[in-house]
Amino acid sequence: MWGGRFAEGPSAVMREINASIPFDKRLWRHDIAGSKAHVAMLAQQGIVSATDAEAITRGLDAVAADYEARGVPEDLALEDIHMVTEKTLAEKIGPAAGRLHTARSRNDQVATDFKLWTRDAIDELDAGLSALQDTLLARAEEHAASVMPGFTHLQSAQPVTLGHHLMAYYEMIARDRGRLADARRRLNECPLGAAALAGTGFAIDREATAAALGFDRPTRNSLDSVSDRDFALEYLTAVTQASLHLSRLAEEFVIWASQPFGFVALSDQWSTGSSIMPQKRNPDAAELVRGHAGRIAGCCTALMMTMKGLPLAYSKDMQDDKPPVFEAHDLIALAVAAMTGMVESARFRADRMRALAEAGFATATDLADWLVREAGLPFREAHHVTGRVVAEAEKRGVALDGLTLEQLRAVDERIDARVFDVLSVDASVASRTSFGGTAPERVREAVSTARKNRGER
Ligand code: ARG
Repeated sequence: MWGGRFAEGPSAVMREINASIPFDKRLWRHDIAGSKAHVAMLAQQGIVSATDAEAITRGLDAVAADYEARGVPEDLALEDIHMVTEKTLAEKIGPAAGRLHTARSRNDQVATDFKLWTRDAIDELDAGLSALQDTLLARAEEHAASVMPGFTHLQSAQPVTLGHHLMAYYEMIARDRGRLADARRRLNECPLGAAALAGTGFAIDREATAAALGFDRPTRNSLDSVSDRDFALEYLTAVTQASLHLSRLAEEFVIWASQPFGFVALSDQWSTGSSIMPQKRNPDAAELVRGHAGRIAGCCTALMMTMKGLPLAYSKDMQDDKPPVFEAHDLIALAVAAMTGMVESARFRADRMRALAEAGFATATDLADWLVREAGLPFREAHHVTGRVVAEAEKRGVALDGLTLEQLRAVDERIDARVFDVLSVDASVASRTSFGGTAPERVREAVSTARKNRGER
């Protein structure tokens, strides 16, 4: 492509280190879409003839059909998807192909392609996250009143409902989707026409190519246009954040599926066996989702490190932008699908969750609150009295509501029979009616509000 200046070809290693075709061939659809928009604009502006533009457009469609049928040829000598496509086009239509690159550089071309690809990636991930939210809503509704221990420090803290717990993940994913929407909005300006770095002397119409490619407007500064990879980084940070949420959910599934917990039985489809231990049902998919979060964070870090010291405008380092974005995208797509399948098919063992909530003295705060409300104790004193009640129950090996009134009154005689109204785990969750609280009625409300806001009901 630049043979005029060179007497010798590149060394084999130069060719190999320089080539991006092995990975950037993934951009082919977007590269062809960008070229078609560009050539249509060139014709409209009278920069290329209508005849040439028509030949180029038909030729690009033929190239696309080839790629679709046989894949993109990986010719390292041609370096990247842009050159491979231009060469393939020339093979099809002859010298007119050489007019396509008028008023364009690979620098604005690759920025445009990569933005188009990332925009699709955002939409794809958003659809996956939305499906996971649907699943969480369905399971939360089903378990709006299923009591489980709520934990802090992974110690039994206060009873909550499983529905409330699942809705916490719904909220996290809502924020992830918000981040994707923000990234998409900022991404949606078209760099095409920035050319190599300085703009072009041809009378191009950047508004036209921007509109044809579904962008809101052209980018405003040609130097920024070709050196900006914020959009890829914003996507990666949003993906990383989402993967952290999936990883936490996965970790909870690992814990819940363990025998000592026994809160969930993963379906056969989402379990693996052991080659030596016949009894095993391992939560491998959940563990891999947890593991992938680390790799995804690594991809995000990799691109940050690539970009951090680059002078304006384009440097070849920027060719390394694609592999981490592709890798993170593939990993998160799998993770979202896996978590959706796991949540959908999990058999939650409400009986076991309830038993552990009852065993953990999780209503101790309810007793302390009762002493404040009904017996007029200052909270600190109520805390102390309740601590003694817990010690008594522990000594006798019973739950708090397993103590008799006499045993309770032996600790503090201000306690009366009404206290039993608050000692059960059901009473405890039912009382947590503050906005955003775990009471079953609040959980059902949260589910229906979420559905309404999503325009689903
Ligand atoms: N393969 C290159 C990339 O992915 C395309 C841009 C090349 N531009 C250049 N001036 N060498 O970044």
